[in-house]
Amino acid sequence: YDKYADPKKEVCFNHDIRKDVEKVYDIIDVEDLGEKTNFCRCWRSKKWPFCDGSHNAHNKACGDNVASLIIQKKQT
Ligand code: FES
Repeated sequence: YDKYADPKKEVCFNHDIRKDVEKVYDIIDVEDLGEKTNFCRCWRSKKWPFCDGSHNAHNKACGDNVASLIIQKKQT
C-alpha cells in the first residue's frame, strides 16, 4: 500500500453492497441481538451489516486500521 497516500482524500467506501439502492440502511430490533453482535464498519463484509473479518484483508491492503462495532450485553 501507499503509506504516503492522503488519508483525508474523499474515497468511495461502499464498493459492492446494495449498489442498486439510494442509501444502504439496516434496521435490527434490539431484542433480536444476541449476547454479542459485531457490526461491520469497513464496508467489505460479505455478511453485511455484520462483520465477517474482511476488515483484516482491507487493513493489510491499504494500511487502514478499521474494525467492527461490537454491541454486547453489559458484563456484570
Ligand atoms: Fe468490516 Fe469486520 S468485516 S469491520
